[in-house]
Amino acid sequence: MIQTKEDILIGALPYIQRYEGKTFVIKYGGAAMTDAALKDSFAKDVTLLKKIGINVVIVHGGGNAVSELSTSLGVEPRFVGGQRYTDEATLKMVVMTLTGTVNKEVVGLINHAGGNAIGLCGIDNNLITAKKHAPKGIDLGLVGEVESVNSEFLNSLISTGIIPVIAPVGVSTDGEVYNINADIAASGIAQALGAEKLFFLSDTEGVIVEGELVPTLTNARAQQYIKQGIISGGMIPKVNAAFEALANGVKKVHLINGAAKHSLLLEIFTHEGVGTQIIREERVFGNRNAGERAAKGMVPKQDLLDFSKMSKQDVEDLLHLTDVLKKTDAKPLAGKHVTLLFQKPSLRTRVSFEVGVSQLGGTSLYLSNEGIGLGERESVKDVARVLSSYSDCIVARLFDHNVILGLAEHSTVPVINALTDLSHPCQILADMYTVRQFGKLRPGLKVAFIGDGNNVANSWIEMAAIYPMHLSIAAPTGYHPAPQLLEAALRSGISTIEIVNDPRIAADSADVIYTDVWTSMGQEEEKQARLKAFKDYQVNSNLVRLAHPNALIMHCLPAHRGEEITEEAMESKNSVVYVQAENRLHVQKAVLATLLSDTSILTDPAVDEAALAEANEYSLENYEQTETTVYHS
Ligand code: CP
Ligand code: NVA
Repeated sequence: MIQTKEDILIGALPYIQRYEGKTFVIKYGGAAMTDAALKDSFAKDVTLLKKIGINVVIVHGGGNAVSELSTSLGVEPRFVGGQRYTDEATLKMVVMTLTGTVNKEVVGLINHAGGNAIGLCGIDNNLITAKKHAPKGIDLGLVGEVESVNSEFLNSLISTGIIPVIAPVGVSTDGEVYNINADIAASGIAQALGAEKLFFLSDTEGVIVEGELVPTLTNARAQQYIKQGIISGGMIPKVNAAFEALANGVKKVHLINGAAKHSLLLEIFTHEGVGTQIIREERVFGNRNAGERAAKGMVPKQDLLDFSKMSKQDVEDLLHLTDVLKKTDAKPLAGKHVTLLFQKPSLRTRVSFEVGVSQLGGTSLYLSNEGIGLGERESVKDVARVLSSYSDCIVARLFDHNVILGLAEHSTVPVINALTDLSHPCQILADMYTVRQFGKLRPGLKVAFIGDGNNVANSWIEMAAIYPMHLSIAAPTGYHPAPQLLEAALRSGISTIEIVNDPRIAADSADVIYTDVWTSMGQEEEKQARLKAFKDYQVNSNLVRLAHPNALIMHCLPAHRGEEITEEAMESKNSVVYVQAENRLHVQKAVLATLLSDTSILTDPAVDEAALAEANEYSLENYEQTETTVYHS
């Protein structure tokens, strides 16, 4: 079908909406810097991106210009492993050409096209603080790597409509100037800015294998190609810089051919794209875990024991995969078996795992402790080994958290923590999905946890160590959450976390009022003492009135009406407890799919994540509870 001009323009609309206000870092190099027509096309592409509201930051190379100058001065350029060796004389030429001739030429080109570019190098306002770079001990002379980036300064330029054009030269804290590989500089800057996209413009279409362009590349595959010599020379630092960027928050990296006109626009505004997209493989919490195990000579695999191996991006990926799975009947667990080993009772966790596995095409078996005698009839190690030989995954609900660590260590299949005395990660992942569903997962989110500093409170703290929020936990003295988790979360500096005695302080202006039972499973003998200790920590109308009018009332269930929460609060318009319970199913399916399958086949890179999330959104108005109480008139 022939596309009319208006089809093409309208086709770009979703991309424009998706990327408005986002930051793209573009490494400019190769032929696109030397050929007049390509230079013009690049400058126009960049200007167009800026004009439609995308923040563009350019980092340029200029290798040829440096080589030309050194040749004309009779200095032979030296390369080691595809990278330039920089002695004092070379550094002078690098600074001269990159921050002088080349930088000003790029700035001039963009300004001529109508952009508002300003030229900078890493020395300006300490934009790039660098330290000596010696990859695998190879001495490259005065070559640096990015230690930190003055992102505040860059953001202030961006916010005034400027396109910063950066020459990759950095300065150490003691004033030594370093030459930085432009790919590495671009990756460092993209990481510091939390860029949506990082582009590497070079003279090839992307990664080519047996004459074919590889449209999507993951790290495992890339390292294999490097070993086989398929990816070589200057492409190696590019690919490695790409994965470094992805591991540190950049959403996607694109390798595109700068030698083809408008490749930048085609990559951004068309579904197929034109280059190689570099993406994170098994997108959630797996790789780092797997790497640690491999280093110890153990079978690599991924577990979900807590959130210590996860990043904010991993959480967002998981919530996105949950949206995706709700829309498909894909069977990523076909042929897989999951064993559920539960020492404690359960309604939600057990049923949602069993149903979830079945919906994803797998089979499951529930084992209660009576039949197994974990650690008594048989050692944890032996149970782990034997179950690993029959199952593809072990989901365990246990008393002692150390036992789940033992299970995970000795099993060769993923282990999922379905609640221990210490934590309940599956619950909090589902809760994050619920919070997002009601539009509350946004900067400034305040979560008030009222009551016992138990396993559920602990998992909130672990989440606050990776996902920014204001977490206020109101618990009586003697019932505070686990200090080691609290210290680690505070050390991370990600969130504001406070432990208070007065529930009213926690509830004040909160977006979420969360509670859980006062007596957890295994603490039944303490019930009377606990009823007394927690009597002032009930979630009731007086407390809820202090929160934001649209605050969500949340409870992981089972609930004891009249103790930690009143009937009225449970049934109020603000209560989302049953959505929370349902979401256990959806989010656990995403956890299972992530741990046990290749989720890249489920997720279409072209899908608009924000639109999909929006389609799954509820509001307190359209979500109907059977009986409603309105606290705020
Ligand atoms: N919230 C929760 O984990 O419920 P169950 O104990 O019923 O599994
Ligand atoms: N804190 C509660 C949570 C139940 C899902 C318990 O451990 O019993």
